[in-house]
Amino acid sequence: MAFSTTLTINGVKRTIALDDPRVTLLDLLRERLNLTGAKKGCDRGQCGACTIIVDGRRINSCLALAISHDGADVLTIEGLAQGDRLHPVQEAFIAHDGLQCGFCTPGQIMSAFGLIQEGQAGDDPERVREAMSGNLCRCGAYRGITEAVLEAHKTLDALNRKEVA
Ligand code: FES
Ligand code: FES
Repeated sequence: MAFSTTLTINGVKRTIALDDPRVTLLDLLRERLNLTGAKKGCDRGQCGACTIIVDGRRINSCLALAISHDGADVLTIEGLAQGDRLHPVQEAFIAHDGLQCGFCTPGQIMSAFGLIQEGQAGDDPERVREAMSGNLCRCGAYRGITEAVLEAHKTLDALNRKEVA
């Protein structure tokens, strides 16, 4: 039996044939579409390395069946920058050394992006740490990550205010 799913991925609508209905969004992105930014850390929802944004919310793509998200809007780390211009969340991770080996970084950045979009980041480091607790970092770059999320939130907040004014 043939299956397919239609997704808008980083602004581009694509219909993808699936030979198995159990294909996860993570495997679809990495193995079929060559979008390898989202990482396969644990493949069981425990590390956050595979975090992407689906319909405006951050999810662990290793736990999401591609076929269940037919029609969804998907944003991956590859779609975050505007051409050569990095997104403020990416810039903040660089500025605050929010990474060491970089394996967890795409997931951390997408999670931070989602958190800020959800309006849950605030300016309380404890709250940011709690909200980012689903994203593990084997290198222990947590301090820089928290600082980066706080700064990115501030930057995006200021940009939004400017747009509204
Ligand atoms: S690979 Fe998805 S949560 Fe670890
Ligand atoms: S930077 Fe190495 S796992 Fe996070």
